[in-house]
Amino acid sequence: MQRLRMGMIGGGPGAFIGPVHRYAAEMDREIELVAGVFSSLAARGKAAADVYRVDPERAYPTLEAMFAAERERADGIDFVAIVSPNHHHLPAARAALAAGLPVMTDKPLTATLDEADELAGLVRAAGLPFGVTYTYSGYPLVREARARVASGALGTVRKIVVEYPQGWLATEATGKQAEWRVDPARAGLGGCIGDIGVHAFHLAEFISGLKVVSLLADLGTVVPGRALDDDCTVLLRFDNGARGVLLASQIEVGERNGLRIRLYGDRGGLAWRQETPNMLELTTLDGRTEIVHAGSGQLGPDALARTRTPAGHPEGYLEAFANLYRDFAAQLRGEPAPLLPGLDDGLRGMAFIATAVSASRAGAGWVPLTV
Ligand SMILES: NC(=O)c1ccc[n+]([C@@H]2O[C@H](COP(=O)([O-])OP(=O)(O)OC[C@H]3O[C@@H](n4cnc5c(N)ncnc54)[C@H](O)[C@@H]3O)[C@@H](O)[C@H]2O)c1
Repeated sequence: MQRLRMGMIGGGPGAFIGPVHRYAAEMDREIELVAGVFSSLAARGKAAADVYRVDPERAYPTLEAMFAAERERADGIDFVAIVSPNHHHLPAARAALAAGLPVMTDKPLTATLDEADELAGLVRAAGLPFGVTYTYSGYPLVREARARVASGALGTVRKIVVEYPQGWLATEATGKQAEWRVDPARAGLGGCIGDIGVHAFHLAEFISGLKVVSLLADLGTVVPGRALDDDCTVLLRFDNGARGVLLASQIEVGERNGLRIRLYGDRGGLAWRQETPNMLELTTLDGRTEIVHAGSGQLGPDALARTRTPAGHPEGYLEAFANLYRDFAAQLRGEPAPLLPGLDDGLRGMAFIATAVSASRAGAGWVPLTV
């Protein structure tokens, strides 16, 4: 089987998520990174190509140069991965779609809601596969949680608590990852809410199968001089009437990447933590707790299909990310990949960010979430 050839936009020297996309895309040998515009600076793009073992001729200085050159090659790229900062997602995706190439982009979909609307029009008009890497939906036990909720294990979901605490932006932001995240021109409308709150939002909808229909947001800017939010409290109401609480913060000193979700129904509860991702807890009304282990015979087909190692051999972040690429590769080959987040998930995330930011600024109380 011919491997799919990936071109990457972003992921230059010192970048966080670019190398993760590279590991993840290549894990199952269905995809190979062969080209990219890895940096806005040509020399740094070449340096990245060296690290990625990509032909330096295929480390391009601009999007235009990449699409023009790759179009002429018999072994040109089959799709594009976008891993540059948020403000660059739209121009990168626009150029890729114009070149007739499918797109896998990182979240948030774009920097602003207007950009998201434009991108949605372009994706629909192009009719090409389009994925969004909401990483946590790739974990086998998150997929198991979704399947258990769908099968009625919790009964009717009545309450969802999702929290995403980090502490790395508790003081003035310095360093490559931090600087653009606190700059509205590059991060967009939201700070913490767009960076990690949107992951929590997607995870809550993904596992529950419910949609948020209204919210009450209190977004704070705790670090003096910062232009965007860094500490978020959002109350949620879901389309079945369930209530929710979403906490996301980047000023909680001592917290690393403590994404955690709990769902409570009228027949049971469920809990999953990103930092111990190989266990899922399910508790029934009589108080008994079942611990579901990754790789075990307790798993249903969605989780088993995306599990690589037997029970007790931990899988983690890279494997979860690779699951999204496995789904995307399936989609490129014309097979269904219903669990891969796509345009609609990206748009819902942008609506969540925009609504939370504007409602919090206006002190608007409860507001509808419309997409
Ligand atoms: N899915 C996840 O779990 C996850 C995690 C981290 C980051 N992200 C997302 O990934 C994106 C990048 O975040 P990061 O932390 O890797 O940032 P980063 O600052 O570490 O890396 C961004 C890279 O993009 C490059 N870049 C900037 N402008 C460019 C341009 N015009 N052309 C080509 N390359 C350009 C930079 O040189 C850098 O190498 C963001 O949208 C972020 O929200 C997602």
